[in-house]
Amino acid sequence: MIETIRTVGALRARVRAWRAEGQSIALVPTMGALHRGHLSLVTAGFTQADRVIATIFVNPTQFGPNEDFSRYPRQEEADAALLAQAGCSALFAPSVTEMYPEGFATTVSVAGVSDGLCGAARPGHFDGVATVVTKLLLQALPDVALFGEKDYQQLGVIERAARDLDIPVRIQGVPTVREADGLALSSRNRYLTPDDRAVAPALYRALTEVADGLTQGQAAETLCAHATADLHRAGFSSVDYLEVRDAETLAPADRFTGRRLRILAAARLGAARLIDNIGVE
Ligand code: PAJ
Repeated sequence: MIETIRTVGALRARVRAWRAEGQSIALVPTMGALHRGHLSLVTAGFTQADRVIATIFVNPTQFGPNEDFSRYPRQEEADAALLAQAGCSALFAPSVTEMYPEGFATTVSVAGVSDGLCGAARPGHFDGVATVVTKLLLQALPDVALFGEKDYQQLGVIERAARDLDIPVRIQGVPTVREADGLALSSRNRYLTPDDRAVAPALYRALTEVADGLTQGQAAETLCAHATADLHRAGFSSVDYLEVRDAETLAPADRFTGRRLRILAAARLGAARLIDNIGVE
């Protein structure tokens, strides 16, 4: 059994008690429906701190009106068991009214890094993410908070917000966990039918094709156009974006010149919108 905390007050009391014992704390924010990717963040948390607190909160403010908020998988009991198995120290699972009480009126909005990519495809999404993550960081005030590179732009948004708002928490990125065929683990993979699931690894293949071309000196634009056509041919219904960006600034990049790059994509397959990204060094 894992201790499940429901209120900000109880979370702060728990953290205070651990601090009094001299223990350091890592935070792993999630929306639940946990898989090995999430659990790798918990494991990475224990390399950085004595205690790891996972959070599960399906954050309504980061979903658009026509997105999957209502059908997003919720399975707290199973998640709590997985966290307990992973040795996680506590679970913070607040209600929507605990996080957004009557009269809530503040938004954290991060300019620049939120623009383009998922920011363009999902208006308001990163405001919702930045707001809820800022709240979670301030509620728990951990030493370190861990986020997956799977959501690379999100990681950039959170790093920027923490730095800009002087939140005294180290933000740590963790590499993407994949299935054997390359598909990045995601809670949304359960929206895939068996036929979709067979097609899904084409997204990772498209990214690796672009990465190979870039290291051979080819232009990003041509490579991305080719890879986008491949995704359509494979069975993806639409490609929100497939772009090459500077890994640090996320500024658009034409080709590989030695600076680290990131290739990022989002595409729709059946009822799912899949995102993925890989680095080029
Ligand atoms: P969620 O999609 O549940 O993801 C929680 C964390 O797990 C994120 O940091 C995400 O990048 C990481 N993650 C997801 N799949 C992964 C994989 N295959 N390998 C490694 N890490 C992976 O991202 C969110 O929730 C929310 O936006 C949140 C940050 C919790 C704010 O609501």
